[in-house]
Amino acid sequence: MADKDEIICNCMGVTRQEIEDAITKDNCDTLEKIQDKTEAGTGCGSCVEDIEDILAEMGK
Ligand code: FES
Repeated sequence: MADKDEIICNCMGVTRQEIEDAITKDNCDTLEKIQDKTEAGTGCGSCVEDIEDILAEMGK
């Protein structure tokens, strides 16, 4: 099981849980929508691939 408290985006301090919530509760089904909602991926960009992986894991 992935650690829900794992920080995915260090720049913005966004956890896996917050990204999963954006996907499931706020219907964010694209990277752009997650960026708007959580700000994850809007800094250095190094976490963008990880966000895309979470989207894929959740079938988006
Ligand atoms: S770690 Fe997410 S934008 Fe830098």
